[in-house]
Amino acid sequence: MRIRLSLFSFLPVILLVTNLSAQVHKSALLQYDKQIDGIIGKMTLEEKIDMLHGKFMFVSAGVERLGIADMRYADGPFGIREEMQPNSWSPLGWPNDKATFFPTGSALAATWSPELAYKYGTGLAREARLRGKDMLLGPAINIQRIPTGGRTYEYLSEDPFLSASLAASYVKGVQDNGVAACVKHYALNNQENNRGSVDVVISERAMHEIYLAPFRAAVEDADAYGIMPAYNKVNGAYCSENDYLLNTVLRNKWGFSGMTISDWGGTHSTVNSVINVLNVEMPSKQYHGQSLLDAVKNGEVSEEIINQRVREILRVRLAIKPVPENEANKVMTSQPKQQKIAYEVACKSIILLKNDGILPIVLEKKPVIAVIGANATQIMATGGLGAGVKTLYEITPLEGLKNRIGDKVEIIYAKGYEASAASGNMRTRRTPEEIEKQNIERNATIQKLAQEAVDVASKADLVLFIGGDNRMVETEGSDRKDILLPYGQDELLKKIAAVNPKIVTVLVSGGPNDLSIIKPLSHALIISWFNGTEGGNALADILTGKISPAGRLPFTIPLKLEDSPAYTLGNYPQGTRSSDIFATLVAKTDSAAKTGQGTALKSDPNKAYYSEESLVGYRWFDTKNKPVMYPFGYGLTYTTFSYSEIKTDKQSYGPDGTIKVSFKIKNAGKVESDEVAQVYIHRINPTVVWPAKELKAFSRVTLKPGESRSITLSIPVKNLRYWNEIKHDWDNDLCRIELEVGASSGDIILKKEIQLNR
Ligand code: BGC
Repeated sequence: MRIRLSLFSFLPVILLVTNLSAQVHKSALLQYDKQIDGIIGKMTLEEKIDMLHGKFMFVSAGVERLGIADMRYADGPFGIREEMQPNSWSPLGWPNDKATFFPTGSALAATWSPELAYKYGTGLAREARLRGKDMLLGPAINIQRIPTGGRTYEYLSEDPFLSASLAASYVKGVQDNGVAACVKHYALNNQENNRGSVDVVISERAMHEIYLAPFRAAVEDADAYGIMPAYNKVNGAYCSENDYLLNTVLRNKWGFSGMTISDWGGTHSTVNSVINVLNVEMPSKQYHGQSLLDAVKNGEVSEEIINQRVREILRVRLAIKPVPENEANKVMTSQPKQQKIAYEVACKSIILLKNDGILPIVLEKKPVIAVIGANATQIMATGGLGAGVKTLYEITPLEGLKNRIGDKVEIIYAKGYEASAASGNMRTRRTPEEIEKQNIERNATIQKLAQEAVDVASKADLVLFIGGDNRMVETEGSDRKDILLPYGQDELLKKIAAVNPKIVTVLVSGGPNDLSIIKPLSHALIISWFNGTEGGNALADILTGKISPAGRLPFTIPLKLEDSPAYTLGNYPQGTRSSDIFATLVAKTDSAAKTGQGTALKSDPNKAYYSEESLVGYRWFDTKNKPVMYPFGYGLTYTTFSYSEIKTDKQSYGPDGTIKVSFKIKNAGKVESDEVAQVYIHRINPTVVWPAKELKAFSRVTLKPGESRSITLSIPVKNLRYWNEIKHDWDNDLCRIELEVGASSGDIILKKEIQLNR
């Protein structure tokens, strides 16, 4: 393994000087400080300590005596979680806490629409308010580093600029509607295997340019009120007590003035965490309860530090008006306005990867359509470990087709494969005899289901194969072991193709799959995501041409998993996964509920060397000239677009300038559609090393048939800076630049050179 890390990543954090001379973001939260001084002056030390840990599973304390309400949290990030028992993970089983299930993170990112991300945040906030919540535990915005990442479906993109634009809009949407956003998981929680112990070893440059960028935008551009430190370590220290991440960067460089809330069970110390700067330990008080009180009393922590932690919480408390108890939970959480947003996002997220003309489906002759695949009927709102939404309803793909075209076609359905936990990604303990017996039974089921699918396919005019992953395969707490389609879907499709080659494949997945078998067997190929309450209706509207597909890949689909950077370089450690931190926490809270005592969390040390540096996703494939299955930014429509007339407002730009790049797009086809134009930057003669290209602007436009539009996009030169590891700050690389405009990172259509200078 080649490890190339900067010397500076190993320097003691004390040497990491903060450049306070740079403009630091000034949060609106600071306006409350005077008022807060008065409140703190009236609080006892015990009342202060009480605010710094969980009161219940999703509540931390206010000060009733002073009229300061408790802080009520809700998962996040794609629907308001059902109401839980105060001290366990069991639901209360309320009848009216069914929420809207919004398309998951990668689906939202596939819209490439900050406007929709804002609406999405608005929708979540409205439902959070109906439930009396103050803080939404979302958005989840870690960079998708490995294609197998268990939470790829929750996260947005492999690209920091796309992630940052959407994250900031999502946060604004939430906070403009009276709820605080808690941006998670800060930072570098890029894998789920061993997430509770993995130590990410990374250079400052890659950290700032790639992994911290979405968090920075959420703070600097959207004034996020909450940040959730992640479970893992970064350069040797747990995120929840990481001086560099929380003090040097978050508070000092970015001007974050709100509160940090540990991931559930992710606190590891008393003194270190409260100093470095964790506000609330959730959900328990193992470290921020009595032991913190003792630490203050014996002088290890000053009361001034406690006051400051309390102040940071009170700022958020005063900015967010609590919902009066008698107003909360009066109506069903999911409301039509939000369901409409979920539909809109779902429509714009669906990606057409391949189409030889078979789509949209021609309905004239009332065709017989064989819908095949367990994913056609599988509910995706819940599953895996966390982030489940008890949704009011979820239209599955099969239901969507029946709703929209049930009277225009004949639909015959076959399940095709069994989406069981054991044959997916879940690990279960069984004896050899049990394994053999189950294997025999499973093989019989596989053959029976496959035969039914083949029979159904042979009778149809068109096969609609609806496969992909599910929430057991893509889950918090563990990564996928590979990106192959689970449950033998590749083999099944080969059998189906032998009797009816007219196949349209729809993948209901949240992360990338290996498409090497299904792509050549499919006349059209679609990604339809874990697409929320209205997902099935949106899919049907795309398949029938009511809407032209125009989602774009938020990640690269590699030819094979081994091509991706962390796999090629062998720097994705999976250790000996003893037990996930979350599973231990569940055991701990359950046993704590019974015995009143918790058990210690075991750690399983291992290191993830991010030796690919900034070369994540397309940055890697483009720089290394490696072919991919589908490039980042890719997606077809039912029309074609032509690009022309690229120009810039100037030929050269200083460090404080803004590049204005204009070009024309024409819808050259016969149907209305959106196009997502993308602007990448290629440095021609740089003084430091860069990826081959980087996304720096994009725009989604709707064009009628024949319509042309002139698009102007702005790129501030300061967004082209690099992180200088000697200065520990952003620096200019004033070089010649090629602006590359196109429809994906693999389809650059227009180019224009400009010069950056002093
Ligand atoms: C997850 C967080 C979530 C928290 C509370 C943790 O396991 O990592 O994303 O907000 O649980 O449910």
